[in-house]
Amino acid sequence: MHSTCVVGLQWGDEAKGKIVDILGANHDIVVRYNGGNNAGHTIVHGDKTFKVSILPTGILKPHLQAVIGNGVVIYPPQLLKEIEQLKESGISVTNRLLISDHAHVIFPYHIIEDKLTETEKSGAIGTTGRGIGPCYQDKAGRVHGIRVGELLYPQHLKARLAKIIAYKNAIFQTFTPEGATPQQLHLEAVYDEYRKYGEAIKPYVTDSVQYLHQSLQDKKRLLFEAAQGSLLDLDHGTFPYVTSSSSLPSGIWPGTGVPAKMLGKIIGVLKAYTTRVGNGPFPTELDDGPTGIGERIRQKGREFGTVTGRPRRCGWFDAVACRYTAAIAGADELAVMLLDVLSGLEEIKICVGYELDGAVRRSFISDAHILENCKPKYEVMEGWKEEITHVKKLNDLPAQAQRYIQRISELVGLPVKTISVGPDRDQTIIID
Ligand code: GDP
Ligand code: IMO
Ligand code: MG
Repeated sequence: MHSTCVVGLQWGDEAKGKIVDILGANHDIVVRYNGGNNAGHTIVHGDKTFKVSILPTGILKPHLQAVIGNGVVIYPPQLLKEIEQLKESGISVTNRLLISDHAHVIFPYHIIEDKLTETEKSGAIGTTGRGIGPCYQDKAGRVHGIRVGELLYPQHLKARLAKIIAYKNAIFQTFTPEGATPQQLHLEAVYDEYRKYGEAIKPYVTDSVQYLHQSLQDKKRLLFEAAQGSLLDLDHGTFPYVTSSSSLPSGIWPGTGVPAKMLGKIIGVLKAYTTRVGNGPFPTELDDGPTGIGERIRQKGREFGTVTGRPRRCGWFDAVACRYTAAIAGADELAVMLLDVLSGLEEIKICVGYELDGAVRRSFISDAHILENCKPKYEVMEGWKEEITHVKKLNDLPAQAQRYIQRISELVGLPVKTISVGPDRDQTIIID
């Protein structure tokens, strides 16, 4: 079995894109199975920087076929924009990109619904505002979900949109806050726009399940790239502050039709610290002001969202959370990213337990309303002064950095096989 999954073990942005980019060299097909353009990956090749959110990161490697599986939700204008941007950078997707006819489509009403829900200040999830949740809601609700394949049948599409838009407009009338004007969509305009998207993406649309099964028979090596992180997984993350899809490897089976038993290796990607965008509990958050360590990490790690530009919340590494996600993900090994960001700190803390109701817990609690009362119990480690962005071998890292990596490995219970010390693919330490 030569297939690999790259999965984030925190709240997203673990630098999965960099690992996918590196692993692409040893695979034939890269597959996205969850999420949509809420994801945002930045990949650095020397002086060139690429950003993708709906296209699989692996599309940057010209020898790879790229598949957007049925578990993904697609906002066509963003997809077409990214295809265009890649072309301008000299990367063609022609004959390389396949889109599942069963992936669901994000419409303008999903984006309006996302924003309407998020205006309820007390309950806001802090979503990316891309209509992801409402689109998955319509998929699970069945009545209003539209799949990519349906864009290719104009009459059928129009008939479906007529009913859906009437329903959504009624909702907007009812739930728009007082004083604001309810948005109203026009069937002809939406239909016309999406019919054209259908024509534009038609060359890429296919039965991806059949394609992937044939590829497995042909002994092709598949690389599955998860979007988001395991703590944002709909079932196992910090509900309700999660995304609306399965970001764990468990999403691969429903999201592509490829059975889990076909996976050879699962690589859990984590930052040497923790970040989170959006709302929800974050026990190790460093909310210590403009001169604090949280802000220092944010500036040094350039921790601002790829999709929304929001400042990411920053904090210490949480070994309790990562042991939990590594177990559910079935991770075989770890990639520890952005280690360079911690250089120059006198001491570094690792969360090894939670204090709750006067007792110390060593296991994670994913219920947001309980997790928010957990206080982290820290182990303190000595930091290192040297910059490490040039280091190529484990033994050349400062002894304190080596001990820190060793401790992460012990606490999470998995070997660390990759260490990243800078955004470029060359700034990577591979441990045999
Ligand atoms: P993803 O969503 O998991 O693919 O991660 P993002 O691309 O959203 O965020 C990771 C960011 O960290 C990107 O801007 C990367 O270029 C950058 N990055 C990756 N590895 C390293 C590293 O080892 N050190 C530093 N300083 N930056 C890194
Ligand atoms: P990548 O793939 C970090 C977060 C949002 C919000 C929650 C729900 O780059 O790691 P949604 O728009 O999905 O309904 O928002 O999930 N979120 C991410 N955070 N990285 C991501 O993707 C994310 N995708 C969604 O900030 O808290
Ligand atoms: Mg990201």
